[in-house]
Amino acid sequence: MANFGDRQNEIYLAGLGGQVPAYPMSYDELERRAELAMSPGTWSYVAGGAGDERTQRANREAFDHWGLVPRMLRATTERDQSVELFGHRLPTPLLMSPIGVIGICTQDGHGDLATARAAAATGVPMIASTLTEDPMEVVAAEQGETPGFFQLYCPTDPEVAQSLVGRAEDAGYRAIVVTLDTWVTGWRPRDLSTANFPQLRGRCLANYFSDPVFRSRLAAPPDEDPGSAILAWAQMFGRPLGWDDLAWLRSLTDLPVVLKGICHPDDARRAVDEGVDGIYVSTHGGRQANGGIAAIDCLPAVREAVPDTTVLLDSGVRSGSDVVKALALGADAVGVGRPYAFGAALGGTDGIVHVLRNILAEADLLMAVDGYPTVPDLGPEAMRRL
Ligand SMILES: Cc1cc2nc3c(=O)[nH]c(=O)nc-3n(C[C@H](O)[C@H](O)[C@H](O)COP(=O)(O)O)c2cc1C
Repeated sequence: MANFGDRQNEIYLAGLGGQVPAYPMSYDELERRAELAMSPGTWSYVAGGAGDERTQRANREAFDHWGLVPRMLRATTERDQSVELFGHRLPTPLLMSPIGVIGICTQDGHGDLATARAAAATGVPMIASTLTEDPMEVVAAEQGETPGFFQLYCPTDPEVAQSLVGRAEDAGYRAIVVTLDTWVTGWRPRDLSTANFPQLRGRCLANYFSDPVFRSRLAAPPDEDPGSAILAWAQMFGRPLGWDDLAWLRSLTDLPVVLKGICHPDDARRAVDEGVDGIYVSTHGGRQANGGIAAIDCLPAVREAVPDTTVLLDSGVRSGSDVVKALALGADAVGVGRPYAFGAALGGTDGIVHVLRNILAEADLLMAVDGYPTVPDLGPEAMRRL
């Protein structure tokens, strides 16, 4: 059986014929080249975060104070990164975190489709944002055999929320990920200094503009009066959710419901008690609150609080070793955000596939060298806090 780490042999062998990889192999280089490929507005929206971006930096730096303990004489020629998630066997523990403007990250303006095709090519599920350039049904159709998940920004209008969730079910998405930390936008100086908020310019609103219930709230269709449609969107974008809303959210679907943005063990415990199927530890990549706590540091306590529930993590994951650390600290699957957006900017589907395969190859080789050949082998005893 092939291992993800075999990728390095392919690269070295191609090098004998004079070929080098078309896209960057290090994260820093990926970021640098993506900046050159993106428009300044899109770049600042994707690369930036809240406040002075302390949380964004903390998300990354916190991985440095966790280390994997090498264990020897456990070498195996075959490794297995597969995981079980909401009843689906997945070949890898990676997820593509929802990125609301991924649609405008690719050069052709169809980054949602590029992401869906990368999901089909790699088996890494896409969590499709509510904010896409192409409607969720079109995006779902490009995901091949790979299960997809739908991320909900809950609108203030409950019937629009219900319609979006119903459409996601009908389109074949396998879970609803409700993002809790974005009912209001965080303070983002980079975007504020250029007064740029893509959605207010009509970008990435396809799921709303194609929604029959949203459209029924408008005096004129979005193509006839886009300004009023954008205003209607802005007015209903974010419902400030409370615990009282959970039963209603749960009632919208039979699909697994995952709450994104939970970082406190008490919140995790209560959410599970109230019928939620998954907890998604995330600080939204440091884009929403600049409090300074890294998601990876919140993970162990959440894992301990809800030992029998699916726990996901994102924020700050840049490499295969970050993925391995997150798995060892209790994540069942690990989301990658900005890295695949940068891959999308450089090469569309190919660029995203490149980024994902690099991360998977590095994770595989680390698991091989350090003696943890399968995901269940990775537990808290594999980690040291430095
Ligand atoms: C440009 C951008 C747009 C995002 N849009 C969404 C979104 O629509 N829905 C959501 O739940 N999270 C969104 N996120 C947050 C990601 O899902 C994820 O939590 C974050 O990117 C992870 O951090 P990382 O970028 O450091 O990997 C967005 C992140 C970025 C960078």
